[in-house]
Amino acid sequence: MSFQHVLAIETSCDDTSVAIVRADGFVMRCLVANQDLVHKPFGGIVPEIASRNHTLQILPLLDELIEKTHLSWDKIDGIAVTSRPGLIGSLLVGIVTAKTLALVHNKPFIGINHLEAHLLAPFLFDEEMSKKSGLKFPYLALAISGGHTQLYDVKDLGNYLVLGRTVDDAAGEAFDKFAKHLGLGFPGGVRVDREAKNGDCRAYTLPRTMNKADGYDFSFSGLKSAAVRLIDSLGVDERASRRADLCASFQEAVVESLMIRLDKAARGLGCDRVVLTGGVSANSRLRQVAAEWAEKNNFELYIPPLRYCTDNAAMVGYAGIQRLLRGECNSQNLAPSADDLPEDFTRPLE
Ligand code: KG4
Ligand code: ZN
Repeated sequence: MSFQHVLAIETSCDDTSVAIVRADGFVMRCLVANQDLVHKPFGGIVPEIASRNHTLQILPLLDELIEKTHLSWDKIDGIAVTSRPGLIGSLLVGIVTAKTLALVHNKPFIGINHLEAHLLAPFLFDEEMSKKSGLKFPYLALAISGGHTQLYDVKDLGNYLVLGRTVDDAAGEAFDKFAKHLGLGFPGGVRVDREAKNGDCRAYTLPRTMNKADGYDFSFSGLKSAAVRLIDSLGVDERASRRADLCASFQEAVVESLMIRLDKAARGLGCDRVVLTGGVSANSRLRQVAAEWAEKNNFELYIPPLRYCTDNAAMVGYAGIQRLLRGECNSQNLAPSADDLPEDFTRPLE
């Protein structure tokens, strides 16, 4: 069967997103309804509220998608949905919707690992981009989001070796917790990024985590605790007046901690093609430092545009259509999983 267009659904966390993607990675349309305002009073994502909101948002979003793309169901060849890892209640909304559409319209459908989708995001392109990224396998990829900080050797489609991962907090989680402690609100990463633009990144000394440890693992809880202690040691006035310096110093420590590992892996593997992906790769300082690093070392660096760095269904659609093209699909028994499946990724010691 030929697969030209896939309809994709992403509801693994708090963003509801739907998209229609072509097999070559062209995004016909990708819609995202975020829930920042409903979670804001709680200073973080409340799973129950997230899944309820997905149920409210998903059908209107699908109607809008079909209307805006002018595609009839006979032009949609399959359905892809994030089935893992994520919040079970949230995943369930996307999966039940995908299964129902697959049954009603008699289409094959496939469950996708959210991290695999992030890894493949640089293959997406759309009308706003002048050209495709030109990325080819193999490459080294750093996936950095609110729930994950992982370094992969991406050998080929479906062949991903996990080189390192965070042993505690994810980088995005550290950004969010730091921002919350400083009173910047939720979601924190983008606010820290914005504040840091007016700050001095050398104003405060914070630890660069695990830079001397073996391997490629990350850790952010030590940095987070040091930053919290620093904030607590300041008076109310200084906290407010030095907010930009605090943000810049914290952001610099996260960026350097990420870059130390990325640099070590690129050299260790002799890999000169590098991808940054996931919500934290939207960070402007990280993009700048990574671009300078790549240029200095003659590495090819690929970072998806912001709209495909944060959670979106287009990346799920791309992973889905590639797998459907290989003859893979799921049955109506597909269930959500909070974690990866054993076959999703390999690890050096397995
Ligand atoms: O990939 P993503 O949208 O959702 C998850 O799968 O987690 O990533 C969300 C994370 C949040 O922690 C958010 O604070 C962080 O990405 N983030 C940023 C920026 N934009 C989003 N962190 C730092 N700087 C940013 N500009
Ligand atoms: Zn994500």
